[in-house]
Order: sequence, then structure tokens, then C-alpha cells
Amino acid sequence: MIFVTGGAGFIGSNFVLQWIEAESDPLVNLDKLTYAGNPENLSTLVGNARHIFVRGDIGDRALVGRLLQEHKPHAIVNFAAESHVDRSIHGPVDFVQTNIMGTFALLEEARAYWSALAQPEKDRFRFLHVSTDEVYGSLGAGDPAFTETTPYAPSSPYAASKAAADHLLRAYHHTYGFPAITTNCSNNYGPCQFPEKLIPLMVLNGWHQKPLPVYGDGKNIRDWLYVADHCAAVRLVLAKGRPGEAYNIGGHGEMTNLDVVKAICALLDEARPPHAPHEKLISFVKDRPGHDRRYAMDARKIRAELGWQPRESFATGLRKTVEWYVDNMKWAERITSGEYQRWIETNYAKRGDA
Ligand code: NAD
Ligand code: TYD
Repeated sequence: MIFVTGGAGFIGSNFVLQWIEAESDPLVNLDKLTYAGNPENLSTLVGNARHIFVRGDIGDRALVGRLLQEHKPHAIVNFAAESHVDRSIHGPVDFVQTNIMGTFALLEEARAYWSALAQPEKDRFRFLHVSTDEVYGSLGAGDPAFTETTPYAPSSPYAASKAAADHLLRAYHHTYGFPAITTNCSNNYGPCQFPEKLIPLMVLNGWHQKPLPVYGDGKNIRDWLYVADHCAAVRLVLAKGRPGEAYNIGGHGEMTNLDVVKAICALLDEARPPHAPHEKLISFVKDRPGHDRRYAMDARKIRAELGWQPRESFATGLRKTVEWYVDNMKWAERITSGEYQRWIETNYAKRGDA
């Protein structure tokens, strides 16, 4: 049994689906179902006894403790977080609450559970914490990519909250010998990403002939990683990564935001020639405050130690992603409507097994 948190969100749900497909262990999935959590992402698992979904908060220590005792997992993979930089600028409190205090609560319960395990189970146990490249701050145009030893310099409330959690992980390993591993990944994209993030927002706005809002001059750079590649990397780190270590995961996919948006426009032109050129919808808007200029990941460590590298190029991954959104317009319409939140409240009682 493994214990996954945040498994109804974008990366978490892709991970859960991949895990059930590729691995034999069952999993418990603890997710609070915030606006970003969507059980519909996991609809193909309804009735699958290997997936146990629980609605609840990683900060609820009684619940976490009970679930650990009940299911006796040999690993925890922590995806649960508030994840959107723009939201953290408008309201940081939920970020501090979940990303710092929630992770702390989860860690404390995990440490108590791990401490009481018999030696063979104790040796096998892992706590894998999913973090971000944003903890390293921003790069200049000619700077080398972030390595695992780049000093932390987070610039947004989101990045600062993730950095705080990473420090706790490191301290728990150093102080208690707790078998914590951190993965720091770059910007993910792919199916089921909530349409507040750049790529799904642009695909959906373009499809609906709405403006494509590019912040500032559009020359900020992100290193894009296809979500299935990221999930495969997390599985590998869980199986073979060394406790106490951090692993950078990147897609070798550095692109300016403007080039990303233009690539999406070209794919939309192919899908809907009568609306071409979609580039006419590009609209430069006021920049995000404190906007990091460039992220780039040096992923040589995970490649050398564990043999991981991404399978998708940005071109192949983006094509799959745009096709998925075009085929799943109803998914996006449902999650952006108020009806969705009402459905969640009716169907998923808090703290209950669903
Ligand atoms: P997401 O916002 O799509 O999903 C987060 C999930 O966590 C949701 O299902 C939400 O309901 C759940 N959640 C939030 N607060 C919770 C709480 N207190 N208790 C239990 N569940 C809670 O995020 P994502 O894009 O899937 O990101 C997953 C992880 O990967 C996060 O830790 C994020 O910081 C990290 N990450 C994401 C990216 C990216 O590009 N998306 C890049 C680097 C790192
Ligand atoms: P985002 O998807 O929010 O991820 P992050 O801020 O974690 O990297 O944004 C990716 C990049 O796209 C970032 O440089 C901000 C930019 N951006 C826009 O230009 N317009 C938008 O509407 C959004 C949401 C993001």
C-alpha cells in the first residue's frame, strides 16, 4: 500500500492513474478537494478496489494518523499543495496553511508512524515530497540551470511556502534519520491541468476565441515537463532514490511564454482552420508582480543515478495536451462552473471514505 496526497489534482491524478496501471500496490488517496481537486479525473477508477479515496486535509493529524494505522503504507507521496503563483500573490494564507503547516502535520504523523515500525518496514519506508524549481528563484539569460545544490531563493509566496516545506524535509532526515526524499520539478503540462495555468488557459481561451493574456513582454522562460514523464520520474525516485537526497526533474524544454502561446495557436489553427490565425488573439497584459524571469533545470543527477529522462519533447507533449483539451471541453466547462463546487459538496462528505 502507498499513501498519496493531493491525488485528485493535476499531477496527483495523473500519478494515481499511472501507478494503478504500472504498479501492483494499491493506494490510498487523501485529497481535500479544494477548487483544484477533481474526482472526475479519477472516474476510470470507480469500483477499482486498488484505489481508496478519502476526502480530507493533510493538516488533520487525527485523520492522517488514523489512515496510516489503518492502511500501513510503505511510502507516502505528497502532492497536496496550493499550487498557483497568482493566487499566492492575492492571498498567501492558504499557502502557508497547507504547504507549510499541512506538510508539517503530515510529516509529524508520518514520523510517529515510521518510528513505531519494525526494522525491516522501517528500512523500506519512504516519504517523497513533491516540490518545485521555483524554490531556487530566478535565472538570468546566460546563467547555468538549477542543480540540487543551487541555494534556495524563492520569490513568490507560493515558492517561499514550498521552500519552507523542503527545509523541514531536509531537517527531518538530518535530525531523526527520517527517510525523506524531495523531488523538485519544472512546470508540468498535460491532461487534467486546472485552466488557471498558462497552457490550459491559452488552449481554452483560444478555442473560445477569447483574448490570450500574455504577462509583460512574454519573454519569461519556463522549462516544460510533460506530466506523464514527471510521474514516471517520481515512481523511479520512490523505488530507487536515496533517502535524504533531492532530485531535480526537468523536461529539457526551455521556452519563452510567447513561443508557448504561439505553438498552441498553431495547433489550434490545425484543429479549427476557419478561426486561423489564433495568434490574433494574443494580448499583452500587465506583468505579474515579482515575476521570475527564467527557470531551467539541470536534471543530470536523476539521469546519472536512476537512468530517468523525459520521453516527450515539447512538440509531442503539447500536441497530446491540446488534443486532450479539445476532446474534453466538457471537463473544462464543468470544473469552471459553480455547479462543480456544488456537486463536490453534495457527493464528497468531508473526512469520509468515498
Ligand atoms: P493542483 O493545484 O492541481 O492540485 C493540488 C491538489 O492538492 C488538489 O487536488 C487539492 O484538492 C489538493 N489539496 C490542496 N490542499 C490540500 C490539503 N490541505 N489537504 C489535502 N489535499 C489538498 O497542483 P498540481 O499542479 O497537481 O501540483 C502537485 C504538486 O506538484 C504540488 O505540490 C506543487 O507544488 C508541485 N508542483 C507543480 C508544478 C506544476 O507545474 N503544476 C510544478 C512544480 C511543482
Ligand atoms: P503558470 O502556469 O502560472 O506557472 P508558474 O507561474 O508556476 O511558472 O505561468 C507560467 C508562465 O506563464 C509564467 O511566466 C506566467 C505566465 N502567464 C501568462 O503570461 N499569462 C497567464 O495568463 C498565466 C496564467 C501565466
